[in-house]
Amino acid sequence: MTNKYIYFVANWKMFGKLKTLNSINKVMSFVKKFKKNKLKLIYCPPATLISPLNDKLKSTIIQIGAQNCHESDSYGANTGQINSSMLKAVGARYVILGHSENRQLGENDNLINLKIKNSIKSGLKIIFCIGESLSQKKNKQTKRILSKQIDRGLKKVVNKKKIIIAYEPIWAIGSGLTPKNSEILEIVKFIKGKVRGSKVLYGGSVNNQNINVLKKINNVDGFLVGGASQNSNNFVDIIRKTFN
Ligand code: 13P
Repeated sequence: MTNKYIYFVANWKMFGKLKTLNSINKVMSFVKKFKKNKLKLIYCPPATLISPLNDKLKSTIIQIGAQNCHESDSYGANTGQINSSMLKAVGARYVILGHSENRQLGENDNLINLKIKNSIKSGLKIIFCIGESLSQKKNKQTKRILSKQIDRGLKKVVNKKKIIIAYEPIWAIGSGLTPKNSEILEIVKFIKGKVRGSKVLYGGSVNNQNINVLKKINNVDGFLVGGASQNSNNFVDIIRKTFN
C-alpha cells in the first residue's frame, strides 16, 4: 500500500460496555509511535460509548465515529433515534452510513442519501458502505449494483471530500471469506473512477491472518474491521502487519 495514510476503522457493531473500553489501552499505547499523517485510526463504538471513549482518547491520534444516525439534523419526535448533530456534540467525527446490516433492515438508497447530506451539514465525515450480495456477484452484477448505490447514495452531495467509501461485499461480512486481491483492486479502481479523489476502504472478514495478503492491494486506502476489531490484540496485529 503506497498511500499517504492508511485508515483503520473499527466497527464494533452491537458490542461493548464501559469496562470494555479498558481493552483499548493496548491500542492506545501501540499507536503512540505513529504520526498522524501515517495512520488514521477511527473507533466506531455503539452510541452508548461515544462520550466516554471521547474522554479516554483525548490527546491521542485516535478518532471516533458513530455507526448510524437518523436522517434529520434537527430534533424531532423520533423515539429511540439519534441525529448527526447530537453525535457530533459528544465527540463523533465520522459516521458509518449505508452499512449492509442496516440496508437489510430496510434502509434504502434515498434514506441513506438524506442521512449523508444531513450528517455532512452537521460536520461529520461519512464512511459510506456499499457492497453486493453473493447472488449479485455470481450474476456478474457487482459493478452495476455498486454504481447504483453510489449514484443514489451520493446524489446531490457536493462536498465529496467528506466521503470515505467502504467496499464491503455482503457475502464477505462475518463469513471468513474475502474477494481475491485482484477483484478488490479492480473494484477499488472502479469506485475511484466514479468518485474522483475518494478514499476507498475494504471491509469484510479482515483479520490478523489475511491482512498480510490484503495489504498488498496497492490502491486501497485502508480497512473497515468488524469482529477482529473487538479484540485489541487482534486489531493491533492487523495494524502492525500492515506496516511491516
Ligand atoms: P467483519 O470484519 O466482522 O466481517 O465485519 C465487517 C463489517 O461489517 C465492518 O463494517
